Amino acid sequence: MKIVSVIGARPQFVKAATISRVIGTRADIREVILHTGQHYDENMSKLFFEELNIPEPDYNLGVGSGSHAVQTGKMLEGIETILLREKPDWTLLFGDTNSTVAGALAATKLHIPVAHVEAGLRSFNRIMPEEINRVVTDRISDLLFAPTETAMTNLRNEGLADVTRFTGDVMYDSVLYYRGIVEQDPATYAMRDLPEEFLLATIHRAENTDHPQQIENILKAIRGLHYPVLLPIHPRTKKIISRFSIPENLHLIEPVGYLMMLSLILKARKVLTDSGGLQKEAYFLGTPCVTLRTETEWVETVHDGWNTITATDSEKIILAVQLPLPKVPQTKAFGNGKAAEIIVGLFT
Ligand code: UD1
Repeated sequence: MKIVSVIGARPQFVKAATISRVIGTRADIREVILHTGQHYDENMSKLFFEELNIPEPDYNLGVGSGSHAVQTGKMLEGIETILLREKPDWTLLFGDTNSTVAGALAATKLHIPVAHVEAGLRSFNRIMPEEINRVVTDRISDLLFAPTETAMTNLRNEGLADVTRFTGDVMYDSVLYYRGIVEQDPATYAMRDLPEEFLLATIHRAENTDHPQQIENILKAIRGLHYPVLLPIHPRTKKIISRFSIPENLHLIEPVGYLMMLSLILKARKVLTDSGGLQKEAYFLGTPCVTLRTETEWVETVHDGWNTITATDSEKIILAVQLPLPKVPQTKAFGNGKAAEIIVGLFT
């Protein structure tokens, strides 16, 4: 059996690494890796392939950045060409980026079956490009891998139960596996000269970066916090943040690889983020999270008291950081750490 995996952006490399490792144990499946080139900086792409031992992509479309239409359009054209050449039995897609939706459209129009990892996530907020990508991809895919019961319910409500399977979350598998690697050799993955206590922040979502007032609010909150805040900065945020006055306790650093990120999450007092993936990674590693968005798709993390949704309200952010650390144990909502095995086993 031949599977073409379409990836392009940072969070997809993490999910694909875990699935590729399992596919590698199956002599009957050949995986062809198609990188759209959505992320292309060394530390947004190459570093992840090296660190996570992802096989070198068979194709890299080099699409790069652009408006949604330009980026997705270039991807559609490139993916179609490769799919026509490779004639796979399945196209495998991950998450909710423009690379995901481009893969879904290109493959389904060629009548190539499509499977979607991390299906059924919904914020019910159509302002987010990711929400559009999720809804479209799930609607036209042939096999949907739901990471949580909430995702199962969302897909059932959309009439997609027949093609949906509960698998658990591959990002939970990833954290379990790579945490082991980080803890075996902590010095290699530790950032030097870290303060004793610090907060770890990431900001990159268009809902925040495209609106100066949101950035201003987040910076105001940071100024009011009594901890140093470490911010590995996404290239789009880097371009924007230089227009603002940077609080003294905010330390901007270059984006870091996945393993150093896990090490930082483990050491941080709390995480402040607008990323979906980081909310879960914090939860899996037992670090409380403050989410700088109006809602989350990962509602389980909120129910357990490990995640507080503040949007970009400065006062709420400060209060959430001051909240005592939660005592409630985490639920097993994200599966048993074997999601990748379950997913690969579903390809027949
Ligand atoms: C994309 C995903 C988002 C995911 C995120 C992870 C979409 C719609 N969004 O957002 O869901 O959470 O990846 O990071 O697909 N840039 C560089 N170098 C790079 C990549 C990006 O400089 O290697 C800059 C460019 O200025 C670009 C901007 O970042 O215009 C945005 O990049 P893009 O890939 O369009 O979306 P992300 O914001 O990374």
